[in-house]
Amino acid sequence: MTSDLKYLRHNDGTQVQNIGLGTFASVEGDCEKAVLHAIDVGYRHIDTAYFYGNEGEVGAAVRKKIDEGVIKREDIFITTKLWCNFHEPERVEYACRKTLANIGLDYVDLYLIHWPFSYAYRGDNEMIPTDANGEVELVDIDYVDTWRAMEKLVELGLTKSIGVSNFNADQLTRLLANCKIKPIHNQIEVHPGLNQKNLIELCKKNDIVVTGFSPLGRHNAEKRTPAFMYDGKVQAIGDKYNKSIAQVLIRYLIELGTVPLPKSSNPKRIEENFNVFDFKLDARDHAILDSYHGGERVAHARQAIKSKYYPFQHYSACF
Ligand code: A2P
Repeated sequence: MTSDLKYLRHNDGTQVQNIGLGTFASVEGDCEKAVLHAIDVGYRHIDTAYFYGNEGEVGAAVRKKIDEGVIKREDIFITTKLWCNFHEPERVEYACRKTLANIGLDYVDLYLIHWPFSYAYRGDNEMIPTDANGEVELVDIDYVDTWRAMEKLVELGLTKSIGVSNFNADQLTRLLANCKIKPIHNQIEVHPGLNQKNLIELCKKNDIVVTGFSPLGRHNAEKRTPAFMYDGKVQAIGDKYNKSIAQVLIRYLIELGTVPLPKSSNPKRIEENFNVFDFKLDARDHAILDSYHGGERVAHARQAIKSKYYPFQHYSACF
């Protein structure tokens, strides 16, 4: 089969590569190296967030590759995210400018509302403010109001596009009914344990691209989780195509109609995860992978469950 590595067109005319490098939980110092290597391998789509604390490393790597002449600014798509303590509409532009200062560029390609719920603002670095009982301090800010401030960022040229992350079907539908600028992405957790077929369908109908984080179910080699990373049936699928389990899982996300964002700081795995555009899963493979769908989440944000904007009906601690 010919490679189906390509660019997808968004509802606002911008484009993105149909795979991206995830950077959540990369160890300090590793992220910059990972992004430098990813660009050499061919990734042109990098996902970061204020919350991850690595916007600076992502920016340093991208600027280095621009200075070296390997890429031009317009060749690379950088996504980052507004954290929950900056949801007050008058704080959104401040947060975005802070992010741009971290990254060291004058615009990002995409700025997402990281979660639909909001936390109290107790300073830029207090990202999960807690009360005397140790409970997170939630505040009642409507994400539609935050969105209006996000729309202004596009007018100001601070970001080319805007979108959301971890929004459920009702929240997305309500946002679509109340926006001037449509979100271009909903970034959500997707893997065989949580295949998100209904939400993907809704996004597709509304011309919103789904980016899938944790395609490997946040693989943990020490704990040997999630189960589908260690299952002979998935290994057998990989063997048929001469691919690893990770490659099968990343391919599964592509064929579900999403843009996978596998996170890795390891050069070999960064290459492996990109090498998924020369094979196709068949219906039986899909049936096996679909059979793991139990609805378990790795990113459940349980601390915010009391917010009326908490997006999930149920969650589980892990696999
Ligand atoms: P590392 O960064 O050392 O490669 P997810 O994207 O589902 O959140 O999973 C991320 C986890 O999976 C990280 O611990 C990452 O470790 C690991 N990982 C990334 N790519 C692979 C791969 N190809 N095979 C096995 N583990 C991987």
